[in-house]
Amino acid sequence: MSPLTVVVTGANRGIGLEVTRQLAARGDTVILGARDLDAGRRAAAPLVAAGGDVRARRLDVTDLASIDAVAAELAGSGAGEGGAGGVGGLDVLVNNAAIHYDTWQQAGGADLGVVAEALDTNLLGAWRCTNAFLPLLRASGHGRIVNVSSEAGSLTSMGGGVPAYRTSKAGLNALTRMLAAELRSDGVLVNSVCPGWVATDMGGPGGRPVAEGAASVLWAVDLPDDGPTGGLFRDGQPLPW
Ligand SMILES: NC(=O)c1ccc[n+]([C@@H]2O[C@H](COP(=O)([O-])OP(=O)(O)OC[C@H]3O[C@@H](n4cnc5c(N)ncnc54)[C@H](OP(=O)(O)O)[C@@H]3O)[C@@H](O)[C@H]2O)c1
Repeated sequence: MSPLTVVVTGANRGIGLEVTRQLAARGDTVILGARDLDAGRRAAAPLVAAGGDVRARRLDVTDLASIDAVAAELAGSGAGEGGAGGVGGLDVLVNNAAIHYDTWQQAGGADLGVVAEALDTNLLGAWRCTNAFLPLLRASGHGRIVNVSSEAGSLTSMGGGVPAYRTSKAGLNALTRMLAAELRSDGVLVNSVCPGWVATDMGGPGGRPVAEGAASVLWAVDLPDDGPTGGLFRDGQPLPW
Protein backbone atom coordinates (compact mmCIF):
# COMPACT_ATOMS: atom_id res chain seq x y z
CA MET A 1 0.00 0.00 0.00
CA SER A 2 1.37 3.45 -0.85
CA PRO A 3 1.93 5.85 2.03
CA LEU A 4 -1.13 7.82 3.08
CA THR A 5 -1.56 11.42 4.09
CA VAL A 6 -3.73 11.52 7.20
CA VAL A 7 -5.18 14.29 9.37
CA VAL A 8 -5.76 13.28 13.00
CA THR A 9 -7.65 15.71 15.24
CA GLY A 10 -6.96 15.88 18.96
CA ALA A 11 -3.64 14.18 18.31
CA ASN A 12 -1.40 15.75 20.95
CA ARG A 13 -2.27 13.07 23.55
CA GLY A 14 -4.27 9.92 24.15
CA ILE A 15 -5.59 7.76 21.35
CA GLY A 16 -5.03 10.45 18.69
CA LEU A 17 -1.32 10.64 19.52
CA GLU A 18 -0.97 6.86 19.43
CA VAL A 19 -2.81 6.67 16.09
CA THR A 20 -0.35 9.28 14.82
CA ARG A 21 2.61 7.31 16.17
CA GLN A 22 1.45 4.05 14.56
CA LEU A 23 0.78 5.71 11.19
CA ALA A 24 4.12 7.54 11.18
CA ALA A 25 6.03 4.41 12.20
CA ARG A 26 4.91 2.64 9.04
CA GLY A 27 5.68 5.57 6.76
CA ASP A 28 2.49 7.58 6.44
CA THR A 29 2.49 11.38 6.53
CA VAL A 30 0.46 12.61 9.48
CA ILE A 31 -0.91 16.05 10.19
CA LEU A 32 -0.98 16.08 13.99
CA GLY A 33 -3.90 18.36 14.79
CA ALA A 34 -3.81 20.10 18.16
CA ARG A 35 -5.80 23.04 19.50
CA ASP A 36 -2.62 24.20 21.24
CA LEU A 37 0.17 24.29 18.65
CA ASP A 38 2.91 24.15 21.30
CA ALA A 39 1.38 21.00 22.75
CA GLY A 40 1.20 19.60 19.24
CA ARG A 41 4.84 20.37 18.57
CA ARG A 42 5.91 18.79 21.86
CA ALA A 43 3.93 15.66 20.99
CA ALA A 44 5.31 15.51 17.46
CA ALA A 45 8.97 15.98 18.42
CA PRO A 46 9.78 12.38 19.49
CA LEU A 47 7.90 10.98 16.50
CA VAL A 48 9.88 13.20 14.14
CA ALA A 49 13.10 12.26 15.94
CA ALA A 50 12.21 8.61 15.31
CA GLY A 51 12.05 9.38 11.58
CA GLY A 52 8.33 9.96 11.22
CA ASP A 53 6.81 12.47 8.80
CA VAL A 54 4.63 14.17 11.41
CA ARG A 55 3.59 17.80 11.04
CA ALA A 56 2.03 19.54 14.00
CA ARG A 57 -0.63 22.05 13.06
CA ARG A 58 -3.00 24.20 15.08
CA LEU A 59 -6.37 22.61 14.48
CA ASP A 60 -9.11 23.49 16.96
CA VAL A 61 -12.21 21.65 15.79
CA THR A 62 -14.41 24.44 17.22
CA ASP A 63 -12.52 27.09 15.22
CA LEU A 64 -13.37 26.94 11.52
CA ALA A 65 -10.52 29.29 10.57
CA SER A 66 -7.95 26.90 12.02
CA ILE A 67 -9.49 24.00 10.11
CA ASP A 68 -9.68 25.95 6.86
CA ALA A 69 -6.01 26.95 7.18
CA VAL A 70 -4.94 23.29 7.33
CA ALA A 71 -7.24 22.40 4.44
CA ALA A 72 -5.83 25.27 2.37
CA GLU A 73 -2.29 24.13 3.09
CA LEU A 74 -3.08 20.57 2.00
CA ALA A 75 -4.80 21.92 -1.10
CA GLY A 76 -1.61 23.76 -1.93
CA SER A 77 -3.05 27.21 -1.46
CA GLY A 78 -2.07 27.94 2.13
CA ALA A 79 1.17 28.99 3.78
CA GLY A 80 1.20 26.36 6.52
CA GLU A 81 1.81 27.05 10.17
CA GLY A 82 4.64 24.72 10.96
CA GLY A 83 7.07 25.78 8.28
CA ALA A 84 7.46 22.29 6.81
CA GLY A 85 6.46 22.24 3.18
CA GLY A 86 5.96 19.52 0.67
CA VAL A 87 2.74 17.93 1.90
CA GLY A 88 -0.27 17.96 -0.37
CA GLY A 89 -3.57 16.16 -0.73
CA LEU A 90 -5.37 14.09 1.86
CA ASP A 91 -6.40 10.42 1.99
CA VAL A 92 -7.80 9.99 5.47
CA LEU A 93 -9.48 12.17 8.09
CA VAL A 94 -9.56 10.77 11.62
CA ASN A 95 -12.10 12.75 13.64
CA ASN A 96 -10.77 11.90 17.09
CA ALA A 97 -11.01 15.06 19.23
CA ALA A 98 -13.61 14.87 21.98
CA ILE A 99 -14.46 16.27 25.41
CA HIS A 100 -16.85 15.84 28.35
CA TYR A 101 -17.26 12.21 29.35
CA ASP A 102 -19.85 13.53 31.79
CA THR A 103 -20.33 10.65 34.22
CA TRP A 104 -21.20 13.23 36.88
CA GLN A 105 -24.63 14.10 35.50
CA GLN A 106 -27.87 12.65 34.21
CA ALA A 107 -30.01 13.66 31.22
CA GLY A 108 -32.78 14.94 33.46
CA GLY A 109 -31.52 18.25 34.81
CA ALA A 110 -28.28 18.13 32.83
CA ASP A 111 -26.23 21.28 32.46
CA LEU A 112 -27.09 22.15 28.87
CA GLY A 113 -24.02 24.33 28.62
CA VAL A 114 -21.94 21.18 29.02
CA VAL A 115 -24.15 19.40 26.49
CA ALA A 116 -23.71 22.24 24.00
CA GLU A 117 -19.93 22.20 24.43
CA ALA A 118 -19.83 18.45 23.85
CA LEU A 119 -21.94 18.78 20.73
CA ASP A 120 -19.79 21.63 19.46
CA THR A 121 -16.57 19.61 19.76
CA ASN A 122 -17.58 15.97 19.39
CA LEU A 123 -20.24 16.32 16.68
CA LEU A 124 -19.94 19.72 15.00
CA GLY A 125 -16.14 19.57 15.23
CA ALA A 126 -16.10 16.38 13.19
CA TRP A 127 -18.67 17.88 10.84
CA ARG A 128 -16.65 21.08 10.30
CA CYS A 129 -13.52 19.07 9.57
CA THR A 130 -15.41 16.82 7.18
CA ASN A 131 -16.81 19.78 5.27
CA ALA A 132 -13.42 21.43 5.01
CA PHE A 133 -11.46 18.34 3.97
CA LEU A 134 -14.11 16.72 1.77
CA PRO A 135 -12.85 18.06 -1.58
CA LEU A 136 -9.40 16.64 -0.81
CA LEU A 137 -10.81 13.30 0.35
CA ARG A 138 -12.90 13.01 -2.82
CA ALA A 139 -9.86 13.83 -4.94
CA SER A 140 -7.85 11.09 -3.23
CA GLY A 141 -9.91 8.42 -4.97
CA HIS A 142 -9.50 6.24 -1.84
CA GLY A 143 -10.75 8.65 0.83
CA ARG A 144 -11.57 7.44 4.32
CA ILE A 145 -13.31 9.23 7.17
CA VAL A 146 -12.93 7.58 10.56
CA ASN A 147 -15.18 9.00 13.24
CA VAL A 148 -13.84 7.96 16.60
CA SER A 149 -17.05 7.29 18.43
CA SER A 150 -18.09 5.07 21.32
CA GLU A 151 -20.47 2.29 22.11
CA ALA A 152 -21.72 4.79 24.72
CA GLY A 153 -23.48 6.44 21.77
CA SER A 154 -25.23 3.26 20.68
CA LEU A 155 -29.01 3.62 21.04
CA THR A 156 -29.48 -0.15 21.31
CA SER A 157 -27.67 -0.42 24.62
CA MET A 158 -28.19 3.15 25.89
CA GLY A 159 -29.11 3.61 29.53
CA GLY A 160 -29.14 6.66 31.76
CA GLY A 161 -26.31 9.07 32.53
CA VAL A 162 -23.36 10.55 30.63
CA PRO A 163 -25.85 12.64 28.62
CA ALA A 164 -23.62 15.18 26.87
CA TYR A 165 -21.15 12.56 25.71
CA ARG A 166 -23.73 9.95 24.70
CA THR A 167 -25.81 12.44 22.73
CA SER A 168 -22.76 13.78 20.93
CA LYS A 169 -21.62 10.30 19.93
CA ALA A 170 -25.13 9.25 18.84
CA GLY A 171 -25.15 12.35 16.65
CA LEU A 172 -21.69 11.51 15.33
CA ASN A 173 -22.95 8.05 14.42
CA ALA A 174 -25.85 9.63 12.51
CA LEU A 175 -23.33 11.79 10.65
CA THR A 176 -21.40 8.65 9.77
CA ARG A 177 -24.51 7.06 8.28
CA MET A 178 -25.43 10.09 6.17
CA LEU A 179 -21.92 10.73 4.90
CA ALA A 180 -21.41 7.06 4.05
CA ALA A 181 -24.52 7.08 1.88
CA GLU A 182 -23.61 10.37 0.23
CA LEU A 183 -19.95 9.57 -0.44
CA ARG A 184 -20.11 5.92 -1.46
CA SER A 185 -20.11 6.82 -5.16
CA ASP A 186 -16.97 8.94 -4.62
CA GLY A 187 -15.10 6.00 -3.16
CA VAL A 188 -14.95 7.64 0.28
CA LEU A 189 -15.63 5.10 3.04
CA VAL A 190 -17.03 6.56 6.27
CA ASN A 191 -17.21 4.58 9.49
CA SER A 192 -17.58 5.07 13.22
CA VAL A 193 -15.08 3.25 15.38
CA CYS A 194 -15.17 2.54 19.09
CA PRO A 195 -11.64 2.17 20.50
CA GLY A 196 -12.97 0.30 23.54
CA TRP A 197 -12.27 1.41 27.11
CA VAL A 198 -8.75 2.81 26.87
CA ALA A 199 -6.45 4.04 29.64
CA THR A 200 -6.13 7.70 28.63
CA ASP A 201 -6.90 10.96 30.42
CA MET A 202 -10.52 10.53 29.31
CA GLY A 203 -10.77 6.78 29.95
CA GLY A 204 -8.89 6.82 33.26
CA PRO A 205 -6.93 3.94 34.76
CA GLY A 206 -8.02 0.36 34.16
CA GLY A 207 -8.75 0.60 30.46
CA ARG A 208 -6.85 -1.34 27.83
CA PRO A 209 -3.52 -0.10 26.48
CA VAL A 210 -3.71 2.89 24.16
CA ALA A 211 -1.99 0.88 21.41
CA GLU A 212 -5.00 -1.46 21.27
CA GLY A 213 -7.49 1.41 21.09
CA ALA A 214 -5.45 3.01 18.31
CA ALA A 215 -5.29 -0.27 16.40
CA SER A 216 -9.09 -0.33 16.40
CA VAL A 217 -8.97 3.06 14.64
CA LEU A 218 -6.28 2.02 12.15
CA TRP A 219 -8.45 -0.87 11.03
CA ALA A 220 -10.87 1.66 9.52
CA VAL A 221 -8.02 3.75 8.06
CA ASP A 222 -6.80 0.69 6.18
CA LEU A 223 -10.06 -0.59 4.72
CA PRO A 224 -9.78 -1.79 1.13
CA ASP A 225 -11.79 0.04 -1.51
CA ASP A 226 -14.50 -2.63 -1.33
CA GLY A 227 -14.56 -2.48 2.46
CA PRO A 228 -17.57 -1.59 4.62
CA THR A 229 -18.97 1.92 4.90
CA GLY A 230 -21.59 3.37 7.23
CA GLY A 231 -20.89 1.02 10.14
CA LEU A 232 -19.87 1.16 13.81
CA PHE A 233 -16.94 -1.14 14.59
CA ARG A 234 -14.64 -2.09 17.44
CA ASP A 235 -11.54 -4.09 16.60
CA GLY A 236 -12.97 -4.68 13.15
CA GLN A 237 -16.16 -6.23 14.49
CA PRO A 238 -19.56 -4.56 13.94
CA LEU A 239 -21.38 -3.12 16.96
CA PRO A 240 -25.13 -2.45 17.12
CA TRP A 241 -26.27 1.14 16.60
N1 LIG B 1 -10.55 6.57 26.37
C1 LIG B 1 -11.60 5.81 26.21
O1 LIG B 1 -11.86 4.87 27.00
C2 LIG B 1 -12.53 6.02 25.05
C3 LIG B 1 -13.61 5.14 24.88
C4 LIG B 1 -14.46 5.31 23.80
C5 LIG B 1 -14.24 6.34 22.90
N2 LIG B 1 -13.19 7.21 23.09
C6 LIG B 1 -12.99 8.28 22.11
O2 LIG B 1 -11.66 8.26 21.65
C7 LIG B 1 -11.27 9.59 21.26
C8 LIG B 1 -9.97 9.96 21.95
O3 LIG B 1 -10.18 9.87 23.34
P1 LIG B 1 -8.98 9.89 24.39
O4 LIG B 1 -9.32 8.89 25.41
O5 LIG B 1 -7.68 9.86 23.71
O6 LIG B 1 -9.22 11.36 25.03
P2 LIG B 1 -8.20 12.38 25.73
O7 LIG B 1 -7.04 11.64 26.27
O8 LIG B 1 -9.04 13.19 26.65
O9 LIG B 1 -7.69 13.29 24.50
C9 LIG B 1 -8.61 14.11 23.84
C10 LIG B 1 -7.89 14.89 22.77
O10 LIG B 1 -8.86 15.72 22.11
C11 LIG B 1 -8.33 17.04 22.07
N3 LIG B 1 -9.35 18.07 21.94
C12 LIG B 1 -10.34 18.41 22.79
N4 LIG B 1 -11.04 19.45 22.32
C13 LIG B 1 -10.47 19.78 21.12
C14 LIG B 1 -10.73 20.77 20.15
N5 LIG B 1 -11.71 21.68 20.29
N6 LIG B 1 -9.96 20.80 19.04
C15 LIG B 1 -8.96 19.90 18.86
N7 LIG B 1 -8.64 18.97 19.77
C16 LIG B 1 -9.40 18.91 20.89
C17 LIG B 1 -7.52 17.17 23.34
O11 LIG B 1 -6.65 18.29 23.26
P3 LIG B 1 -6.12 19.09 24.57
O12 LIG B 1 -4.89 18.37 25.03
O13 LIG B 1 -5.86 20.46 24.07
O14 LIG B 1 -7.22 19.05 25.61
C18 LIG B 1 -6.81 15.82 23.32
O15 LIG B 1 -5.71 15.86 22.44
C19 LIG B 1 -12.45 10.49 21.63
O16 LIG B 1 -13.27 10.70 20.51
C20 LIG B 1 -13.19 9.67 22.68
O17 LIG B 1 -14.56 10.02 22.77
C21 LIG B 1 -12.34 7.07 24.13
